[in-house]
Amino acid sequence: MKVLVIGGGGREHALAWKLAQGARVQRVYVAPGNGGTALDPALHNVPLCTPEELADFAAAEKIALTVVGPEAPLAAGVVDLFRARGLRIFGPTKAAAMLESSKAYAKAFMQRHGIPTALYGSFTDAAAAHAHVDKHGAPIVIKADGLAAGKGVVVATSKAHAHAAIDDMLGSNTLGVQHNAEGARVVIEEFMAGEEASFIVLCDGKQVLTLATSQDHKRIGDGDTGPNTGGMGAYSPAPVVTPNVHAKVMHEIIHPTLAGMAKDGVPYTGFLYAGLMIDAQGQPRTVEFNCRLGDPEAQVILMRLKSDLFEVLMHATEGTLDQVELQWDRRTALGVVMAAHGYPQSPRKGDVITGLPAPDAEGTELQVFHAGTAQRDGQVVVNGGRVLCVTALADSVRLAQQRALAAVREIHFDGAQWRNDIGHRAIRH
Ligand code: AMP
Ligand code: GLY
Repeated sequence: MKVLVIGGGGREHALAWKLAQGARVQRVYVAPGNGGTALDPALHNVPLCTPEELADFAAAEKIALTVVGPEAPLAAGVVDLFRARGLRIFGPTKAAAMLESSKAYAKAFMQRHGIPTALYGSFTDAAAAHAHVDKHGAPIVIKADGLAAGKGVVVATSKAHAHAAIDDMLGSNTLGVQHNAEGARVVIEEFMAGEEASFIVLCDGKQVLTLATSQDHKRIGDGDTGPNTGGMGAYSPAPVVTPNVHAKVMHEIIHPTLAGMAKDGVPYTGFLYAGLMIDAQGQPRTVEFNCRLGDPEAQVILMRLKSDLFEVLMHATEGTLDQVELQWDRRTALGVVMAAHGYPQSPRKGDVITGLPAPDAEGTELQVFHAGTAQRDGQVVVNGGRVLCVTALADSVRLAQQRALAAVREIHFDGAQWRNDIGHRAIRH
């Protein structure tokens, strides 16, 4: 069987690596892939981008299953196109992917279906947005409506900060948000206190299977300081998701979301990622939905998955997820992201990466998943903001952190940035 993975980040490297272990899988293509998927003899990069090119390739190569990594092709309707052409693909349709691609849609959906989340207002008019901030005060959260690569959210600690964020998002758009059809819009939310976790499930349109829990670290600096990024590291499982919290999330968030989507005529298929805020009483609320696996959550979750992912996703596209039970490694997986000089504002490309472990030297307890890398003249070079995710398995969070950091210190490129405290909330001092 041949498999196609769409995307070129660390999440897609991890997906392709895991799918390639499938008993019936002969070949895994990654479009477009990265320097790491190019190096791996089990994976084959193909330089395809548009949904049409991808569908033509899948048809010509008789691809048994296509798996979509990032949100952009989902929002562009790649799943709808593949299905219209009779090609098997795992992911949500364009309409279902609006749970991620439009914050305003997601908030209205949650309100309509009674799914716990922060109170909010939605604005296209700057004066009305400013007035809302003046009325509610800080802290308050300003979100651009539209895809923004994880950078369209400002947690404002002062009114001035909130006003500036509104001016940027409804005006100059220095964050480069991809606006939805009706133009610039902001969602302004009540600030929620608590601890975050990533709760990701697989959906086949009717049934749901939960993946292992995880937690990522969005700020660039140790101690959760500095600007937000796409994620600087993650670990799984996340102890903040106790069995009690887990049950509440399923009962109050996941099941009502899937039932609500079905009721609205948009049955959900694909990975569904609920970003949670869990308060001191263990009450979870939804921060956001993503219509895909997280990055770098995927890297740590897939390190722990023992089941054959290809077979699981075949069931998911068949509507038979009830026949599947997932097996997990009991150990902790922890991934440390190495980012480029200048990330997140202006990552520098071209720095040469040395000290990467040989793929076969990694064994099963350490994997270096590539993200923003490329091969050039026989060398691996930096080609994006998040460059590598060095992921280790060990018996405790602390040991997994030590193992990952030891490997990080062997790898070199100029200006490399990483955090030394990934997993700190789960490490007892
Ligand atoms: P989002 O892209 O919606 O997940 O937001 C990015 C990050 O901003 C989240 O991971 C949270 O850390 C923070 N955030 C978003 N919304 C809120 C909120 N209502 N209250 C507190 N923090 C928030
Ligand atoms: N790591 C957060 C995300 O993938 O959205």
